Amino acid sequence: MSVLRGKHILLGITAGIAAYKTASLVRLFIKAGAHVKVIMTPAAKDFITPLTLSTLSKNPVISSFTADVDDNAVWNNHVDLGLWADLFVVAPATANTLSKMASGTSDNFLIATYLSAKCPVYFAPAMDLDMYKHPSTKATLEALQSFGNIMIPATSGELASGLVGEGRMAEPEAIVSHMESHTLKTLPMHGKTVLVTAGPTYEAIDPVRFIGNHSSGLMGFEIANKAAQLGAEVILITGPTHFTTEDLRIKTIPVISAEEMYTEAHTYFSSVDIAILSAAVADYKPKNVASSKIKKASSTLSLELEQTKDILASLGQIKTHQLLVGFALETDNEVANAIKKLKHKNLDLIVLNSLNDKGAGFGGKSNKVTLIDKNCVQTEFPLKSKADVATDIMNELLKQTNA
Ligand code: CTP
Repeated sequence: MSVLRGKHILLGITAGIAAYKTASLVRLFIKAGAHVKVIMTPAAKDFITPLTLSTLSKNPVISSFTADVDDNAVWNNHVDLGLWADLFVVAPATANTLSKMASGTSDNFLIATYLSAKCPVYFAPAMDLDMYKHPSTKATLEALQSFGNIMIPATSGELASGLVGEGRMAEPEAIVSHMESHTLKTLPMHGKTVLVTAGPTYEAIDPVRFIGNHSSGLMGFEIANKAAQLGAEVILITGPTHFTTEDLRIKTIPVISAEEMYTEAHTYFSSVDIAILSAAVADYKPKNVASSKIKKASSTLSLELEQTKDILASLGQIKTHQLLVGFALETDNEVANAIKKLKHKNLDLIVLNSLNDKGAGFGGKSNKVTLIDKNCVQTEFPLKSKADVATDIMNELLKQTNA
């Protein structure tokens, strides 16, 4: 999943021949899951039609301060549009527009919107090689960057003039990846690695039967998604579940049993900054696993069970720099039991959900939790979607990592 997913991207197109490539650029933004609006300078319309861009972006294209609606002149609000944008990219950015951006010459809708935008602004210069090398262009590019704008440098190659040199607009794919990697670096969990356990475990009785539970894995997947959206690299160790993730920053490690989950968690633990153990790990497993299917012989059957290894407690014993988070599903003396687990397992945070709360616990799409930190400070949250609970947990961890 791209970090651009859900972002509002404003694309400003100016009058350079590379404008023809912006059709692909809009497609790539849309494919990344972004919402796109396009502004063109009037002269840019000589290079690519607004119809192409409005069709691809699924939004009207704006190129002037007013529009005709039912024979009435309507004001296009550059302030609203500037504030709508999470990211603003001017591509291709001609020498003329760049110079106006640098001097604040607000004589068209694009520049007025640029001056109103508070978001990161990217620009991808495109011009002939001598224009690109010119001292005044160089001064402009430096000035724009000194204002905090982000340059996506032009590349070398054959130019529209037939000359070969530096000045070609970066390819649409390069523009997108530049914006992605810059956006990623601004995220609060960038540089952190988060380990998450999710789902149930299945403990084999024989080759066809197991002891399991009703955990869907949703809570853990939502935590993994949220951590990745915040810029973290995520290692998701999951028991059997039907959920999948396409986020490239989430490495999924499927396991079946508590023993396998234990082994994988210990393999990665030393290299992570945060470990959130949301899996509903079986507390007991059959002591002996039958090597062939158990036949129906007598009217009753007894299974001898033995405890599984407590993954959370074992990580609590060896943790050094990591923040360790556990879950507690309780039915009575909820807070007291959760605090006991927090202390006993050497945790930094415990997420308590009570089976007495309607809509909480596993199986469903919602959860109602109380977060208890290592100083026993409790924060109670209302019933929410598991995605929103994941946000609350990650916000608490961000607070702890920045403390
Ligand atoms: N957990 C674990 N390994 C186990 C059992 C539990 O890592 N073998 C983790 C769970 O992922 C959860 C936390 O421990 O984060 C709490 O699990 P829970 O079953 O509620 O608590 P237990 O300590 O097993 O105690 P009890 O079942 O008696 O309440």
